[in-house]
Amino acid sequence: MRLVLLGAPGSGKGTQAERLKTALAVPHISTGDLLRAAVAAGTPLGLKAKVVMDAGQLVSDDVVLGMLEERLRQSDAHAGFILDGYPRNLAQADALDGLLKRLQQPLQAVVELRVPAEVIVERCRLRYEIQGRADDEPTTVRKRLDVFAAQTAPVIDYYAKRGQLKVVNGVGDLADVSARVMAALAPNASAAVG
Ligand code: AP5
Repeated sequence: MRLVLLGAPGSGKGTQAERLKTALAVPHISTGDLLRAAVAAGTPLGLKAKVVMDAGQLVSDDVVLGMLEERLRQSDAHAGFILDGYPRNLAQADALDGLLKRLQQPLQAVVELRVPAEVIVERCRLRYEIQGRADDEPTTVRKRLDVFAAQTAPVIDYYAKRGQLKVVNGVGDLADVSARVMAALAPNASAAVG
């Protein structure tokens, strides 16, 4: 399965990808996790990315594409992947098309987890209190939501126009959301589930 999980920051993409990767027998590839690993390792790329991430803005397209290509070329991704956090703007959607064409691994499904903004701010606020992730601070979360509306929402339209998008209600128990995603991935699933 080659799946893109779309959704606003805090909509549950990472949580669901971790739950679904075993059932789908593919790795979870998160560009946010790849960037946070570079930050933690203190690489030059990580040091630059940290400033941008802490401000709730997007890291430059070429940096993220390079990291993603390197990750998709690793052997475990030959079986497929759940891509989380990419693409985040139309340029990245085009770049992903080109990359997957080069790798001869066309996308098979695109699922959007849809969650109201106020639910997202609360989820991130809780995580901020527990884990202290800098960009989960409520003011920064609202900036991330603005970036999502301006830059990532057009990506959702892009896949919808191509007839590839399934929309799933991302609110509720984790198991219920997972079941909705699996139903959306089933052959002939309807465009809206849950
Ligand atoms: P990234 O790591 O991709 O973050 P994000 O998508 O903005 O947000 P999250 O990871 O917080 O959201 P999620 O949807 O995965 O939700 P999660 O499962 O964690 O990106 C971080 C930054 O990196 C970006 O701002 C940008 O700077 C940079 N970046 C990344 N990719 C990039 C790209 N392609 N181009 C440029 N820059 C890029 O859940 C959130 C919380 O909610 C958790 O605490 C979870 O436990 C909880 N939760 C999940 N589901 C539920 C549920 N059903 N009920 C209750 N709580 C729930």
